[in-house]
Amino acid sequence: MTISFTVNGVAHKVSEQLDMPLLWYLRDHIDLKGTKFGCGIGQCGACTVHMDGHAIRSCSITLNLLDGKEIKTIEGLSDKVEQAVQAAWKKIDVPQCGYCQSGQIMAASALLRQNPKPTDEDINNAMTNICRCGTYVRIRRAIHEASDLAYEAS
Ligand code: FES
Ligand code: FES
Repeated sequence: MTISFTVNGVAHKVSEQLDMPLLWYLRDHIDLKGTKFGCGIGQCGACTVHMDGHAIRSCSITLNLLDGKEIKTIEGLSDKVEQAVQAAWKKIDVPQCGYCQSGQIMAASALLRQNPKPTDEDINNAMTNICRCGTYVRIRRAIHEASDLAYEAS
């Protein structure tokens, strides 16, 4: 069986090791190291990427489930919302150690695409990624800032 999918717009085909988690493929096979390994069991969110625009945990989905899917990683962020999230993260100076932050940015940009004006409660409910440095307050502020940048400036 051959599985075809895209990563950041580039076509990939795989026919071996289809039980490999996507995170392993991204980091070890195609050298996209921006997506981080944290817990490996779907809990922490460090490995968050987009699949067809939705935030998923790449440690917990295997290659055999990706046929026809569009995967986007932190290296592929480019649209208006994603750029606004990156700009807001810089402006608010969100990261501390930074380890969790690519996953946080992927989760935030997926949230803002689905909900352009999230409330604090919406953000708290959607952002289940863990930050061991406790940057949650700045993350919430940056999501509001990104919402303004993406949807009010245009
Ligand atoms: S490494 Fe995937 S959720 Fe923690
Ligand atoms: S910034 Fe250090 S784990 Fe989140």
